[in-house]
Amino acid sequence: MYKPVRVAILGATGAVGTELLNLLEHRDFPVASLKLLASERSEGNSLTFKGETLLVEAVTENSFRDIDLVLASAGGETSKTWAKSIVASGAVMVDNSSAFRMESEVPLVVPEINPETAKYHKGIIANPNCTTILMGIAVYPLHRVQPIKRIVVSTYQSASGAGARAMEEVKVQSQAILNGNPPQTEIFPYPLAFNLFPHNSPLNHEGYCTEEMKMVNETRKIFNEPNLRVTATCIRVPVLRAHSESVNLEFYAQFSVTDARMIVANSPGLKLVEDWTKNYFPMPMDASGRDEVLVGRIRQDISHPNSLELWICGDQIRKGAALNAVQIAELLIKERWLCSANK
Ligand code: A2P
Repeated sequence: MYKPVRVAILGATGAVGTELLNLLEHRDFPVASLKLLASERSEGNSLTFKGETLLVEAVTENSFRDIDLVLASAGGETSKTWAKSIVASGAVMVDNSSAFRMESEVPLVVPEINPETAKYHKGIIANPNCTTILMGIAVYPLHRVQPIKRIVVSTYQSASGAGARAMEEVKVQSQAILNGNPPQTEIFPYPLAFNLFPHNSPLNHEGYCTEEMKMVNETRKIFNEPNLRVTATCIRVPVLRAHSESVNLEFYAQFSVTDARMIVANSPGLKLVEDWTKNYFPMPMDASGRDEVLVGRIRQDISHPNSLELWICGDQIRKGAALNAVQIAELLIKERWLCSANK
Protein backbone atom coordinates (compact mmCIF):
# COMPACT_ATOMS: atom_id res chain seq x y z
CA MET A 1 0.00 0.00 0.00
CA TYR A 2 1.37 3.41 -0.91
CA LYS A 3 1.15 6.54 1.22
CA PRO A 4 -1.74 8.67 -0.12
CA VAL A 5 -0.69 11.90 -1.80
CA ARG A 6 -2.18 15.38 -1.88
CA VAL A 7 -3.18 16.01 -5.48
CA ALA A 8 -4.18 19.11 -7.43
CA ILE A 9 -5.56 18.99 -10.98
CA LEU A 10 -4.79 22.20 -12.84
CA GLY A 11 -7.31 22.47 -15.69
CA ALA A 12 -9.80 20.22 -13.91
CA THR A 13 -12.78 21.39 -15.99
CA GLY A 14 -11.24 20.60 -19.38
CA ALA A 15 -11.47 17.48 -21.54
CA VAL A 16 -8.23 16.02 -20.13
CA GLY A 17 -8.86 17.38 -16.62
CA THR A 18 -12.19 15.58 -16.26
CA GLU A 19 -10.58 12.38 -17.54
CA LEU A 20 -7.81 12.79 -14.95
CA LEU A 21 -10.48 12.98 -12.25
CA ASN A 22 -12.16 9.88 -13.63
CA LEU A 23 -8.89 7.93 -13.76
CA LEU A 24 -7.84 8.90 -10.22
CA GLU A 25 -11.16 7.53 -9.02
CA HIS A 26 -11.28 4.33 -11.04
CA ARG A 27 -7.62 3.31 -10.78
CA ASP A 28 -7.76 3.58 -7.00
CA PHE A 29 -5.00 6.14 -7.01
CA PRO A 30 -3.86 6.81 -3.41
CA VAL A 31 -5.43 10.27 -2.98
CA ALA A 32 -5.10 11.93 0.44
CA SER A 33 -6.79 15.13 -0.72
CA LEU A 34 -7.84 16.54 -4.07
CA LYS A 35 -7.91 20.16 -5.20
CA LEU A 36 -9.59 21.12 -8.48
CA LEU A 37 -8.10 24.19 -10.14
CA ALA A 38 -9.12 26.07 -13.28
CA SER A 39 -9.51 29.65 -14.42
CA GLU A 40 -11.70 32.27 -12.76
CA ARG A 41 -14.40 31.36 -15.31
CA SER A 42 -15.01 28.06 -13.53
CA GLU A 43 -14.65 29.21 -9.93
CA GLY A 44 -17.43 27.73 -7.81
CA ASN A 45 -18.44 25.08 -10.37
CA SER A 46 -18.63 21.61 -8.89
CA LEU A 47 -17.35 18.19 -9.93
CA THR A 48 -17.75 14.86 -8.17
CA PHE A 49 -15.03 12.54 -6.96
CA LYS A 50 -15.90 9.24 -5.29
CA GLY A 51 -19.43 10.49 -4.63
CA GLU A 52 -18.23 13.71 -3.03
CA THR A 53 -18.92 17.13 -4.51
CA LEU A 54 -15.79 19.24 -4.90
CA LEU A 55 -15.78 22.92 -5.77
CA VAL A 56 -13.50 24.20 -8.52
CA GLU A 57 -11.12 26.94 -7.37
CA ALA A 58 -9.47 29.64 -9.46
CA VAL A 59 -5.72 29.01 -9.43
CA THR A 60 -3.67 31.44 -7.31
CA GLU A 61 -0.17 31.73 -5.87
CA ASN A 62 -1.36 29.88 -2.75
CA SER A 63 -3.04 26.98 -4.54
CA PHE A 64 -0.04 24.65 -4.31
CA ARG A 65 0.65 24.86 -0.58
CA ASP A 66 0.38 21.41 1.01
CA ILE A 67 0.23 19.69 -2.38
CA ASP A 68 2.51 16.78 -3.35
CA LEU A 69 1.47 16.27 -6.96
CA VAL A 70 0.04 18.62 -9.60
CA LEU A 71 -1.46 17.07 -12.72
CA ALA A 72 -1.52 20.01 -15.12
CA SER A 73 -3.57 20.21 -18.29
CA ALA A 74 -4.49 23.85 -18.72
CA GLY A 75 -2.28 24.80 -21.67
CA GLY A 76 1.36 25.82 -21.97
CA GLU A 77 0.94 29.42 -20.83
CA THR A 78 -0.80 28.36 -17.62
CA SER A 79 1.90 25.75 -16.92
CA LYS A 80 4.63 28.34 -17.49
CA THR A 81 2.87 30.83 -15.22
CA TRP A 82 2.59 28.43 -12.28
CA ALA A 83 5.60 26.09 -12.66
CA LYS A 84 7.83 28.11 -10.34
CA SER A 85 5.21 28.31 -7.58
CA ILE A 86 4.52 24.59 -7.89
CA VAL A 87 8.17 23.59 -7.63
CA ALA A 88 8.85 26.16 -4.89
CA SER A 89 6.00 24.70 -2.85
CA GLY A 90 7.70 21.30 -2.98
CA ALA A 91 5.16 19.66 -5.27
CA VAL A 92 5.98 17.73 -8.44
CA MET A 93 4.17 18.74 -11.63
CA VAL A 94 3.29 16.20 -14.31
CA ASP A 95 2.62 18.61 -17.15
CA ASN A 96 0.48 17.74 -20.13
CA SER A 97 1.42 20.90 -22.02
CA SER A 98 4.31 21.36 -24.45
CA ALA A 99 5.87 24.13 -22.31
CA PHE A 100 8.80 22.15 -20.90
CA ARG A 101 8.95 18.98 -23.01
CA MET A 102 12.16 19.74 -24.86
CA GLU A 103 14.05 21.21 -21.90
CA SER A 104 17.06 19.00 -21.21
CA GLU A 105 16.50 18.71 -17.44
CA VAL A 106 12.82 17.80 -17.86
CA PRO A 107 12.13 14.09 -18.40
CA LEU A 108 9.64 13.36 -21.20
CA VAL A 109 8.08 10.10 -20.16
CA VAL A 110 6.00 7.28 -21.57
CA PRO A 111 6.08 4.68 -18.78
CA GLU A 112 6.09 1.73 -21.21
CA ILE A 113 9.15 3.20 -23.00
CA ASN A 114 11.47 5.20 -20.75
CA PRO A 115 10.24 4.97 -17.11
CA GLU A 116 13.78 5.23 -15.68
CA THR A 117 14.17 8.82 -16.94
CA ALA A 118 11.44 10.01 -14.53
CA LYS A 119 13.83 9.43 -11.63
CA TYR A 120 15.92 12.45 -12.63
CA HIS A 121 13.16 15.06 -12.52
CA LYS A 122 13.70 18.39 -10.81
CA GLY A 123 10.07 19.02 -9.97
CA ILE A 124 8.65 18.89 -13.50
CA ILE A 125 7.96 15.85 -15.67
CA ALA A 126 6.49 16.38 -19.12
CA ASN A 127 3.77 14.26 -20.63
CA PRO A 128 4.45 13.98 -24.38
CA ASN A 129 2.20 15.16 -27.18
CA CYS A 130 -0.77 12.85 -27.76
CA THR A 131 0.12 11.73 -31.29
CA THR A 132 3.70 11.06 -30.15
CA ILE A 133 2.59 8.88 -27.23
CA LEU A 134 0.21 6.85 -29.39
CA MET A 135 2.82 6.23 -32.09
CA GLY A 136 5.67 5.71 -29.62
CA ILE A 137 3.97 3.05 -27.56
CA ALA A 138 3.05 1.16 -30.75
CA VAL A 139 6.44 1.25 -32.46
CA TYR A 140 8.96 1.19 -29.59
CA PRO A 141 8.53 -2.56 -28.89
CA LEU A 142 9.48 -3.18 -32.55
CA HIS A 143 12.38 -0.72 -32.37
CA ARG A 144 13.69 -2.55 -29.30
CA VAL A 145 13.91 -5.80 -31.31
CA GLN A 146 15.13 -4.33 -34.58
CA PRO A 147 16.22 -0.67 -34.80
CA ILE A 148 14.08 1.66 -36.86
CA LYS A 149 15.88 3.74 -39.48
CA ARG A 150 13.02 6.01 -40.56
CA ILE A 151 9.41 6.71 -39.60
CA VAL A 152 6.88 8.25 -42.01
CA VAL A 153 3.62 8.99 -40.21
CA SER A 154 0.31 10.58 -41.22
CA THR A 155 -2.20 11.40 -38.52
CA TYR A 156 -5.98 11.66 -38.49
CA GLN A 157 -6.59 13.70 -35.35
CA SER A 158 -9.90 14.10 -33.59
CA ALA A 159 -11.41 17.30 -32.22
CA SER A 160 -10.65 16.23 -28.63
CA GLY A 161 -7.02 17.21 -29.16
CA ALA A 162 -8.14 20.84 -29.16
CA GLY A 163 -10.14 20.48 -25.94
CA ALA A 164 -13.70 20.18 -24.72
CA ARG A 165 -14.89 23.35 -26.46
CA ALA A 166 -13.55 22.11 -29.80
CA MET A 167 -15.50 18.86 -29.43
CA GLU A 168 -18.63 20.91 -28.79
CA GLU A 169 -17.89 23.09 -31.83
CA VAL A 170 -17.85 20.05 -34.14
CA LYS A 171 -21.21 18.89 -32.79
CA VAL A 172 -22.76 22.33 -33.27
CA GLN A 173 -21.26 22.63 -36.77
CA SER A 174 -22.63 19.21 -37.74
CA GLN A 175 -26.09 20.19 -36.54
CA ALA A 176 -25.91 23.49 -38.45
CA ILE A 177 -24.88 21.78 -41.70
CA LEU A 178 -27.60 19.12 -41.34
CA ASN A 179 -30.11 21.95 -40.84
CA GLY A 180 -28.86 23.66 -44.00
CA ASN A 181 -27.11 26.49 -42.15
CA PRO A 182 -23.50 27.66 -42.54
CA PRO A 183 -21.18 26.25 -39.83
CA GLN A 184 -19.73 28.78 -37.36
CA THR A 185 -16.09 28.58 -36.31
CA GLU A 186 -14.54 29.80 -33.09
CA ILE A 187 -11.92 27.32 -31.84
CA PHE A 188 -10.87 25.89 -35.21
CA PRO A 189 -9.94 28.20 -38.09
CA TYR A 190 -12.15 26.30 -40.56
CA PRO A 191 -15.24 24.12 -40.29
CA LEU A 192 -14.25 20.63 -39.19
CA ALA A 193 -17.68 18.98 -39.46
CA PHE A 194 -17.92 17.08 -42.78
CA ASN A 195 -14.44 18.38 -43.59
CA LEU A 196 -10.76 17.99 -42.70
CA PHE A 197 -7.70 20.21 -42.80
CA PRO A 198 -3.97 20.08 -42.06
CA HIS A 199 -3.24 20.72 -38.38
CA ASN A 200 -3.54 24.43 -37.73
CA SER A 201 -0.50 24.88 -35.45
CA PRO A 202 2.11 27.42 -36.67
CA LEU A 203 4.26 26.48 -39.67
CA ASN A 204 8.05 26.62 -39.69
CA HIS A 205 10.28 27.74 -42.57
CA GLU A 206 10.38 24.17 -43.92
CA GLY A 207 6.58 23.96 -44.09
CA TYR A 208 6.15 21.68 -41.07
CA CYS A 209 3.61 22.66 -38.41
CA THR A 210 4.41 22.58 -34.69
CA GLU A 211 2.36 19.42 -34.18
CA GLU A 212 4.43 17.62 -36.82
CA MET A 213 7.71 18.81 -35.31
CA LYS A 214 6.53 17.61 -31.89
CA MET A 215 6.26 14.12 -33.35
CA VAL A 216 9.78 14.40 -34.76
CA ASN A 217 11.56 15.90 -31.74
CA GLU A 218 9.64 14.27 -28.92
CA THR A 219 9.96 10.78 -30.45
CA ARG A 220 13.74 11.27 -30.67
CA LYS A 221 13.91 12.39 -27.03
CA ILE A 222 11.67 9.59 -25.65
CA PHE A 223 13.48 6.88 -27.66
CA ASN A 224 16.84 8.46 -26.78
CA GLU A 225 17.64 8.39 -30.51
CA PRO A 226 18.65 11.95 -31.41
CA ASN A 227 19.30 11.04 -35.05
CA LEU A 228 16.19 8.96 -35.74
CA ARG A 229 14.67 10.02 -39.05
CA VAL A 230 11.01 10.97 -38.62
CA THR A 231 8.65 12.86 -40.93
CA ALA A 232 5.01 13.58 -40.10
CA THR A 233 1.89 14.98 -41.73
CA CYS A 234 -0.79 15.88 -39.18
CA ILE A 235 -4.41 16.24 -40.24
CA ARG A 236 -7.44 17.23 -38.21
CA VAL A 237 -10.49 15.07 -39.00
CA PRO A 238 -14.15 15.33 -37.89
CA VAL A 239 -13.88 12.57 -35.29
CA LEU A 240 -14.87 13.55 -31.76
CA ARG A 241 -12.43 11.47 -29.76
CA ALA A 242 -9.43 9.16 -30.48
CA HIS A 243 -6.68 9.80 -33.00
CA SER A 244 -5.64 7.49 -35.84
CA GLU A 245 -2.21 7.20 -37.45
CA SER A 246 -0.85 5.53 -40.56
CA VAL A 247 2.76 4.63 -39.79
CA ASN A 248 5.44 3.43 -42.21
CA LEU A 249 8.51 2.02 -40.49
CA GLU A 250 11.78 1.40 -42.28
CA PHE A 251 14.12 -0.86 -40.30
CA TYR A 252 17.83 -1.42 -40.78
CA ALA A 253 17.03 -5.03 -41.74
CA GLN A 254 13.97 -7.05 -42.69
CA PHE A 255 11.26 -7.44 -40.03
CA SER A 256 8.80 -10.27 -40.49
CA VAL A 257 5.11 -9.37 -40.31
CA THR A 258 4.48 -12.45 -38.16
CA ASP A 259 7.08 -11.33 -35.61
CA ALA A 260 5.72 -7.79 -35.62
CA ARG A 261 2.18 -9.05 -34.93
CA MET A 262 3.41 -11.27 -32.11
CA ILE A 263 5.36 -8.41 -30.52
CA VAL A 264 2.40 -6.02 -30.75
CA ALA A 265 0.03 -8.65 -29.33
CA ASN A 266 2.33 -9.16 -26.31
CA SER A 267 3.36 -5.58 -25.53
CA PRO A 268 1.87 -3.67 -22.58
CA GLY A 269 -0.68 -1.02 -23.49
CA LEU A 270 -1.28 -2.40 -26.99
CA LYS A 271 -4.05 -4.51 -28.51
CA LEU A 272 -3.67 -6.20 -31.87
CA VAL A 273 -6.92 -5.67 -33.80
CA GLU A 274 -7.03 -7.46 -37.14
CA ASP A 275 -9.73 -9.47 -38.86
CA TRP A 276 -8.56 -9.72 -42.45
CA THR A 277 -11.66 -11.65 -43.56
CA LYS A 278 -13.99 -8.86 -42.41
CA ASN A 279 -11.64 -5.98 -43.26
CA TYR A 280 -11.94 -5.04 -39.59
CA PHE A 281 -9.10 -3.00 -38.14
CA PRO A 282 -8.67 -0.30 -35.46
CA MET A 283 -11.25 2.49 -35.56
CA PRO A 284 -11.44 5.62 -33.40
CA MET A 285 -14.92 4.64 -32.19
CA ASP A 286 -13.52 1.38 -30.84
CA ALA A 287 -10.49 3.09 -29.32
CA SER A 288 -12.54 5.76 -27.51
CA GLY A 289 -12.65 5.33 -23.75
CA ARG A 290 -10.09 2.51 -23.83
CA ASP A 291 -6.70 2.42 -22.18
CA GLU A 292 -4.99 0.35 -24.90
CA VAL A 293 -3.75 1.67 -28.22
CA LEU A 294 -5.23 -0.45 -31.01
CA VAL A 295 -2.79 -1.61 -33.68
CA GLY A 296 -3.58 -3.50 -36.86
CA ARG A 297 -3.25 -3.83 -40.62
CA ILE A 298 0.38 -4.74 -40.03
CA ARG A 299 1.72 -5.53 -43.47
CA GLN A 300 4.87 -5.63 -45.53
CA ASP A 301 5.47 -2.40 -47.43
CA ILE A 302 5.54 -3.62 -51.04
CA SER A 303 7.80 -0.72 -52.02
CA HIS A 304 10.65 -1.54 -49.60
CA PRO A 305 11.96 -4.89 -48.30
CA ASN A 306 12.84 -3.49 -44.85
CA SER A 307 9.60 -1.62 -44.22
CA LEU A 308 6.31 -2.34 -42.48
CA GLU A 309 2.98 -0.52 -42.54
CA LEU A 310 0.90 -0.12 -39.34
CA TRP A 311 -2.48 1.43 -38.63
CA ILE A 312 -3.09 2.60 -35.08
CA CYS A 313 -5.93 4.24 -33.14
CA GLY A 314 -5.74 5.46 -29.58
CA ASP A 315 -7.82 7.56 -27.26
CA GLN A 316 -6.12 10.94 -27.29
CA ILE A 317 -7.66 11.93 -23.96
CA ARG A 318 -6.72 8.63 -22.25
CA LYS A 319 -3.35 7.15 -23.26
CA GLY A 320 -2.63 10.25 -25.33
CA ALA A 321 -2.93 12.50 -22.28
CA ALA A 322 -4.65 11.77 -18.95
CA LEU A 323 -3.81 8.08 -18.60
CA ASN A 324 -0.14 8.58 -19.46
CA ALA A 325 0.06 11.39 -16.87
CA VAL A 326 -1.57 9.23 -14.18
CA GLN A 327 0.75 6.33 -15.05
CA ILE A 328 3.73 8.68 -14.60
CA ALA A 329 2.35 9.70 -11.21
CA GLU A 330 1.84 6.06 -10.24
CA LEU A 331 5.43 5.33 -11.27
CA LEU A 332 6.68 8.21 -9.09
CA ILE A 333 4.74 6.88 -6.12
CA LYS A 334 5.77 3.26 -6.64
CA GLU A 335 9.46 4.09 -7.06
CA ARG A 336 9.39 6.78 -4.34
CA TRP A 337 10.47 9.44 -6.81
CA LEU A 338 7.66 11.81 -5.79
CA CYS A 339 9.75 14.38 -4.05
CA SER A 340 11.01 17.63 -5.42
CA ALA A 341 14.30 19.30 -4.62
CA ASN A 342 12.44 21.53 -2.16
CA LYS A 343 11.23 18.83 0.21
P1 A2P B 1 -11.77 26.91 -17.55
O1 A2P B 1 -12.80 25.81 -17.73
O2 A2P B 1 -11.99 27.70 -16.32
O3 A2P B 1 -11.56 27.73 -18.79
P2 A2P B 1 -9.58 22.14 -22.58
O4 A2P B 1 -8.21 21.62 -22.96
O5 A2P B 1 -10.64 21.10 -22.61
O6 A2P B 1 -9.93 23.37 -23.38
O7 A2P B 1 -9.48 22.62 -21.04
C1 A2P B 1 -8.57 23.58 -20.61
C2 A2P B 1 -8.54 23.61 -19.09
O8 A2P B 1 -7.59 24.59 -18.70
C3 A2P B 1 -9.85 24.05 -18.45
O9 A2P B 1 -10.00 23.43 -17.21
C4 A2P B 1 -9.62 25.54 -18.28
O10 A2P B 1 -10.40 26.13 -17.25
C5 A2P B 1 -8.19 25.56 -17.87
N1 A2P B 1 -7.58 26.87 -18.11
C6 A2P B 1 -7.50 27.55 -19.28
N2 A2P B 1 -6.87 28.73 -19.10
C7 A2P B 1 -6.54 28.80 -17.78
C8 A2P B 1 -5.87 29.76 -16.96
N3 A2P B 1 -5.40 30.90 -17.47
N4 A2P B 1 -5.72 29.47 -15.66
C9 A2P B 1 -6.18 28.33 -15.13
N5 A2P B 1 -6.83 27.37 -15.84
C10 A2P B 1 -7.00 27.60 -17.16
